[in-house]
Amino acid sequence: MAMTEEIRKIILKYGRDILGSDEFRETFSQTHHMDTTVGDHTLGVAAEAVRICLKYHQTDDGTLKNAVVSSLCHDLGIIGRDEKYKNNVQCLIRHPIDSIEAYKSVTGEEEERVLDSIGCHMFPLKPRMPKHREGWILVLADKTASAREKLGYPAVTKKDRDEMMAEIERMKTGA
Ligand SMILES: [Fe+2]
Ligand SMILES: [Fe+2]
Repeated sequence: MAMTEEIRKIILKYGRDILGSDEFRETFSQTHHMDTTVGDHTLGVAAEAVRICLKYHQTDDGTLKNAVVSSLCHDLGIIGRDEKYKNNVQCLIRHPIDSIEAYKSVTGEEEERVLDSIGCHMFPLKPRMPKHREGWILVLADKTASAREKLGYPAVTKKDRDEMMAEIERMKTGA
């Protein structure tokens, strides 16, 4: 299923500052799971997270915001992985912790539910179980988005991505 206009609008509503940040721009030059970039994977996770929120009626403002922000920040810690981590196991264990730091510095926020979601997103590979609904939404969205990438049907196509990032640039310049 392609990304709907409703999903796109929700991601832009809650994610525009993160998407417009210098840190996020870097995600498109970091490869991920061999065949995509952290940025493309991240947008796919955000789209899946919003889809799950809509499907399971988790559509209050707080949950939608936390789900979008958690998704957009969950792998920011992976940036620079080749210099930062000795191997994949170290990356698996440490990148959620580094992503929490990236979330704090990009947004200036420390929402407990977002901290928990990002910290627990590798569950069950890393056995730290989410405490809140947002964490389970992210666990499910991350796995679904990764599987879709592998199957060749990413949740966000390159065209969707280019249009969204162009819209973010227009919002920034007020054009
Ligand atoms: Fe991750
Ligand atoms: Fe991920």
